[in-house]
Amino acid sequence: MKPNKIIIVPFIVISIFWSGASIAHPPSLSEAMGAYIKRDGLMHLIRAQRYILQEMLVGKRQLDQDEFVRAAKALESMFAMIPSTFEKSDMVDYSRAKPEIWENWDDFVAKADELRKLSAEIAATGEIYGAKIAVEKVRLYNCGNCHDPYRK
Ligand code: HEC
Repeated sequence: MKPNKIIIVPFIVISIFWSGASIAHPPSLSEAMGAYIKRDGLMHLIRAQRYILQEMLVGKRQLDQDEFVRAAKALESMFAMIPSTFEKSDMVDYSRAKPEIWENWDDFVAKADELRKLSAEIAATGEIYGAKIAVEKVRLYNCGNCHDPYRK
């Protein structure tokens, strides 16, 4: 072992213990990071399901009755998850959430509920009248109605 390694290796070992990091359990995420990951994760899932409906609307994806209704129902559930997912206002630098969310919480939740209701309506219309008729309603998703006031 070269002399520099004799110094570096114990230094690393001591640093790990000093930092409080455990080798068996990786260091846990900070509260703020956890809160952000939940918000961002839910939003990406919403986008993925919204894309499926959008692709069916513009003819990029075959209009599939079951898949259409499934995606609309998934969106209904996901929009219902916004209040509990955004509960914590903990912030990290790259979060795009504006503090206004927690200052105007009722309005924020109402905006989420509008899209939850729209998703339920799209799913029900799809089930009753068929995806071909319901797909036109996909145009009504206005994500900007919430992003404009509440996302940086
Ligand atoms: C009730 C408010 C609200 C609604 C409705 C909403 N979003 Fe968001 N969205 C946010 C907020 C706030 C953030 C930022 C979260 C953060 O960074 O902590 C966000 C972030 C995102 C992100 C993460 C990446 C980025 O650009 O910041 C995506 C993707 C996204 N939204 C897609 C959508 C889509 C698609 C819809 C509509 C189908 C939608 N959202 C509806 C509030 C909303």
